[in-house]
Amino acid sequence: MFEEISAPVEGVTEKVVLKETKPPLDSRIGKDAPFQFGQRVLADDNDVWNHNAWDHAEWGEEQKVEAETLISKQYENPVEEFDKKLYNGNPAKYWDIFYKNNKENFFKDRKWLQIEFPVLYEATKADAPPVTILEIGCGAGNTMFPVMSQNENPNFRIIGADYSKNAVQLVKNSASYNPEIAHACVWDLSNENLELPETVEPESVDIIIMVFVFSALAPEQWVHAVNNLQKILKPGGQILFRDYGRYDLAQVRFKKGRLLDDNFYIRGDGTRVYFFTEEELRDIFGKFFQEERVATDRRLLVNRKKQLKMYRIWMQAVFKKPLEN
Ligand SMILES: C[S@@+](CC[C@H](N)C(=O)[O-])C[C@H]1O[C@@H](n2cnc3c(N)ncnc32)[C@H](O)[C@@H]1O
Repeated sequence: MFEEISAPVEGVTEKVVLKETKPPLDSRIGKDAPFQFGQRVLADDNDVWNHNAWDHAEWGEEQKVEAETLISKQYENPVEEFDKKLYNGNPAKYWDIFYKNNKENFFKDRKWLQIEFPVLYEATKADAPPVTILEIGCGAGNTMFPVMSQNENPNFRIIGADYSKNAVQLVKNSASYNPEIAHACVWDLSNENLELPETVEPESVDIIIMVFVFSALAPEQWVHAVNNLQKILKPGGQILFRDYGRYDLAQVRFKKGRLLDDNFYIRGDGTRVYFFTEEELRDIFGKFFQEERVATDRRLLVNRKKQLKMYRIWMQAVFKKPLEN
């Protein structure tokens, strides 16, 4: 288990100074786990320091101004042009290094997925119809494996695709990898040639899962990614999406030399991250897909000792490919 010294929050890797630590008690509960939301709502501002976390945190003008002030400082020292080219030139390389260093120990199992996206739960039932699921940006399998372990559907198939060959190797080496129902392969979501992942035929996938992967694309790659999704998904198929939201703590705490472009950053380990709004998601996916749900999850974390308020913000969405174009 590794702790990030500079940013001990899920998915934030601004500085890759990793030291081995004992996991804190609650670190096994994914901090981005949506099903934990809704349990503690701050009704009276005076109570804010009484707990470490609040769900459905209100987000007013004051917070927005605070976040924008911090972000405007980042523009004083953006990433140099030379380095921008370096990072954008071969982004998979940095994820390869990431998985070489962290192996499968970094991301927590996304056990909440089937609760938050009921279609996944339905698909794994014993009496469900045949289903093909594609997880894009599968990393070390923290989404794929929990879904597989739940599965009782005899006609279930899951493909995990990632452009990091080290990630794909970790999935294949895992004891949980069952090649009878799963396949892992190297594939770039943003490829411009409409190439599909190994074993995936056009319009053959029922469910595409994308958890914290779209944020790794540069904005100019979104169009290629969406073209690929359109080619892969069956009519009536769904995209299940979870990723970083605009003004998330991970965004506002970036300091000098991290800003690549508006709302797009380079972490200390060379991996890239974008922070979305609901409107952007509608724009990106609306080209081909119908909106089933687009939502923002907000959680207020409180450091009682330092009297600090920190907002975590995640986007969650479901898009559907229309039955007829
Ligand atoms: C933040 S990790 C998330 C991993 C996994 N989805 C999870 O939630 O544990 C992002 C993953 O997306 C992969 N990735 C980033 N850009 C990609 C692309 N263009 N095509 C395929 N995979 C990509 C990275 O290699 C990395 O494994």
